[in-house]
Amino acid sequence: EERLARILDLPKVELHLHHEGAAPPAFIRGLAQEKSVDLTGVFDEHGAYAYRDFVHFLSVYEAATQVLQTPQDYYRLTKAVLEESAANGVIYSETFLSPDFCGGSDVGAWREYLHAIREAADEAEKTDGIVLRGIITCIRHFGPEKAKASALCAAETAGDWIVGFGIAGDENKGKPRDFSYAFDMAREAGLRLTAHAGEFGGARSVYDAVTDLGVERIGHGVRAIEDLRVVDMLAEKGIVLEVCPGSNVTLGVFPSFAAHPIERLRERGVTVTVSTDDPPFFHTTMKREYEHLARTFGWDEETLTEIARNSANAAFCDDTTRAAIL
Ligand code: ADE
Ligand code: ZN
Repeated sequence: EERLARILDLPKVELHLHHEGAAPPAFIRGLAQEKSVDLTGVFDEHGAYAYRDFVHFLSVYEAATQVLQTPQDYYRLTKAVLEESAANGVIYSETFLSPDFCGGSDVGAWREYLHAIREAADEAEKTDGIVLRGIITCIRHFGPEKAKASALCAAETAGDWIVGFGIAGDENKGKPRDFSYAFDMAREAGLRLTAHAGEFGGARSVYDAVTDLGVERIGHGVRAIEDLRVVDMLAEKGIVLEVCPGSNVTLGVFPSFAAHPIERLRERGVTVTVSTDDPPFFHTTMKREYEHLARTFGWDEETLTEIARNSANAAFCDDTTRAAIL
């Protein structure tokens, strides 16, 4: 157990975290009360986020974002999120930020939201030493037109601490190539690319995201395991997986940690990293993810140090920032 304590205290690098999805329930409830927003159906009787399945989770997530109405709300959210991450030993975090939730893809409003988030991040960096970078994210079930508007916002604010572009949302809505235009725009603006795939879609969905969007990382990607040719392609191309085991088990993608393919993917040569996705929704934290991996697969300090190094190497930050977290 001394061994476990050492593992939990390791410095961690998180690459897959949804900004609103990391909001503590009490934080969202507090804002709801201040603003008299009715959040019936968002929480269960214990005050935890309540949802039946993945698609319902997405709708509860969106309902909770109704209380986030101003840049100042995102300033407060960012403070709460980074404080929790830092308490888990996270030294560098990339979070998904969506214009759809921050002013609705108006570029002027978007800049104000980013400014507020950056202000909170600067303070967290000073007090807790945690570094934040942003990945601008379109939402698949909002469709390709909204995705283009998000890509435009991303292109307008690329550089500095906005380092990537991605896509989240319902993987069973549309195809990756429907979003090629948005991804091309983001790439031309110098942003690095990632896409959610292989979570509620199979191996083909992972293959399509890599070939049609040209991403260098995949959010989840774990169902590539259903076709070893796709697993081998990920290994050969050096595509990095942002694996969120607790999220997958809670959403029923796999029945248990023991059944999770992270260890098999790693053994077959895929570069894997570990993140939490939406920690309070899935009752997880980075420490809990590390504990599950240590207990389930016997991952030791050396293995988890390698995982953090994988994350630092795959982070979308500049090399000076990378050197500080390697
Ligand atoms: N948005 C927030 N969490 C997500 C997930 N796990 N998959 C897809 N979209 C999301
Ligand atoms: Zn995600």
